Order: sequence, then structure tokens, then C-alpha cells
Amino acid sequence: MLFHPSVLFTLATASLTAAQLAGYATQNGGTTGGAGGTTTTVSAAAAFQTAVKTVKPITVFLTAPVHLSSQTSVASDTTIIGVGTQAILTGVGLKISGQKNIIIRNLVINKVTGNDGITITSSTNIWIDHNEFFSDLTHGPDFYDGQVDVNHASDFVTVSWNFFHDHFKSSLVGGDPENGSEDTGHFHITYHHNYWKNVHTRTPALRFSHAHVYNNYYENLVSQGIHTRSLGQALVEGNVFVNSTEPLSTYGFVIPDDSPNSGPAGDFEDDGFANLGAANDFGTGKINITRTGDFTSVPYSYSLTALASVKAAVVAGAGVGKI
Ligand SMILES: *[C@@H]1O[C@H](CO)[C@@H](O)[C@H](O)[C@H]1NC(C)=O
Ligand SMILES: *[C@@H]1O[C@H](CO)[C@@H](O)[C@H](O)[C@H]1NC(C)=O
Ligand SMILES: *[C@@H]1O[C@H](CO)[C@@H](O)[C@H](O)[C@H]1NC(C)=O
Repeated sequence: MLFHPSVLFTLATASLTAAQLAGYATQNGGTTGGAGGTTTTVSAAAAFQTAVKTVKPITVFLTAPVHLSSQTSVASDTTIIGVGTQAILTGVGLKISGQKNIIIRNLVINKVTGNDGITITSSTNIWIDHNEFFSDLTHGPDFYDGQVDVNHASDFVTVSWNFFHDHFKSSLVGGDPENGSEDTGHFHITYHHNYWKNVHTRTPALRFSHAHVYNNYYENLVSQGIHTRSLGQALVEGNVFVNSTEPLSTYGFVIPDDSPNSGPAGDFEDDGFANLGAANDFGTGKINITRTGDFTSVPYSYSLTALASVKAAVVAGAGVGKI
């Protein structure tokens, strides 16, 4: 059956019910992106870049692969939705800087270089949902940057139902271990129902954060998975790990000398904290919780998927072509 494009987009918009948003992006006034604004459909890089950074509020439907030659800024009050499975971004990624109220769904972001897949910096109320992020493991740990990185006191972020795979460093919250004055009290972030597979580390890594990490499914993590440091706190529950080396740890590291605020060589980054909520299945991996914190509950309601159903639900539901 053929639909007129406007019928298709009405259907896509109808599925964008507020009920699907959970976690910290529901707080601080909520996250609605471009709801109530104009709608546009684009299929080329220049039109995409213009749409996401100028008009607002706006919902931007992307229908075709685009290669970006510069990091693309997304403005406040914007929703980006990939249509089907062909909204594929390559080249350079997206940047959300000093903005609020943005939703990004159903994009494939792969092999971007020069920066992260999505950088969220000095921004609030951001929802990253049902996207796929991947690169490769053949270029070494520093060839690609993060998949979703969050820094400079960003807050009220939800990262849900994404498929992160074949990458070294997935998701870092907190750019600088020596800048607690800026970041402490921010970085409230929820990661739920994401699928991580064949990733080395940072699923996520958390500094100065309050991160609720629930119902994610992990396969073949090579190094640290959920890792808090620099006093970051995580509430970890209902996650399932298969064949993963170190699902959860909280120990600090020696701060690299090239850290922007690096003190004397050998400075040590503080440990983080982790609390365990509803049961997790860590498989055969190692857990190293050096400190438990006081982050044991969240200010929103949420429903946990039963542990025995997490793998099937996440593998079937995460990534693109599912909304
Ligand atoms: C450190 O925090 C200050 C605000 O307290 C900010 O202006 C500065 O950009 C931050 N520096 C780094 C390297 O993160
Ligand atoms: C287990 O994970 C490692 C990476 O840590 C990978 O090389 C190996 O192939 C995985 N084993 C299976 C059975 O998937
Ligand atoms: C946990 O990590 C700390 C710091 O690296 C280390 O000293 C300790 O031996 C580790 N504990 C376990 C059980 O691996």
C-alpha cells in the first residue's frame, strides 16, 4: 500500500508520544523538541544543516544518507527523526552546545571523525533515542572520538534504545576530572534499554554525574563497561552482560598529562560511587565497586523490564527502524 508522504509523517509523529520518554529528560520542565512547531523533510546535507540550526521549534525528517563535512550544530526546540533506516550520517557528527530541549531519533551515525557522533555540551533536556552508532575496531582507540559525549555541566539527558557497536570509547559524561566546580550538581542522565556490543569502554564512563543506568544489554565488552570516577555516582539496575570483562567499576585513574586542566604529572583522579538497585546479571565479568554512594533513587517513575526479558527486549527494540 502506498501512502502519501504527509500521511507517513503523520504516522511517524503520532508514534512520538510523551509516554515513550523516560528518565531525567522528563525533569526540569520536560523535553518536547520541536513539538508544536513547523515540520520539514530534507534529504541533503546543506538542507539538513540549515533546518536543524535555524528555524525553531521544528521537526526535521531526514529521508536519505548525508555526508557532513563540518560538525553540525543543532538548535534548541528541535526534533530530528530519521525516516525508515536510510537516515545515515557520515563524515562529522552533531553538536548540541548551549541549547535546550532537543530530541534526536532514528539516525544511523557511523565512522564520523574529528569529533563525537553527538556532543552535548552546556545543554539541558536532551533525548537521544533509537539511534545506531558504530565505527570499527581496526583503527586503534583514538582514531574515532566518543559516540555520545556529554560535558560542561549539561543536565537532564536521556539516552534510550540506542544500538552502540564496534567502537572503542562509547559514551563519556564529564570532560575534565579537575573541573568539579563547573560540573558538580549537574550531569543528571539516564541510560536505559541501550544495546552495547563489541565496544571497548565507556558504556558509559561517568564523572561528577548522577547516572541512572537500567535495563541495558551488553555483549562482548572488552574493558571497563559502566565506570564511575571523579566522584560520579551511578544507580545500576536490571542490566544484563554477556561475555564482558569488567561490567562495573568505580576506581579512579591517573590523570593524563594532556588533560586540559592537568596538574602535576601523576595526579590521581578520585574514585566514583555505584549503588546497585534491582538485580543485574553481570555474567562472568568482574565488578569492582570501591565506594557506594547516596544515589539510591530517582525523582521520576519508570518501569523496569524483567531481568529475564532484557536481552530479547533490547535486541529487538534498540536501534533504527523500530519507532
Ligand atoms: C572549567 O570550568 C569553568 C567554569 O567553572 C569553565 O569556564 C571552563 O571552560 C572549564 N574548563 C575546562 C577545561 O573544562
Ligand atoms: C567475547 O568477547 C571478546 C572480546 O572481549 C571477543 O573477542 C570474543 O569473540 C567474544 N566471544 C564470543 C563467544 O562472542
Ligand atoms: C579494585 O580497583 C582497585 C583500584 O584499581 C584495586 O586496588 C583493587 O585491587 C580492585 N579490586 C578488585 C577486587 O579487583
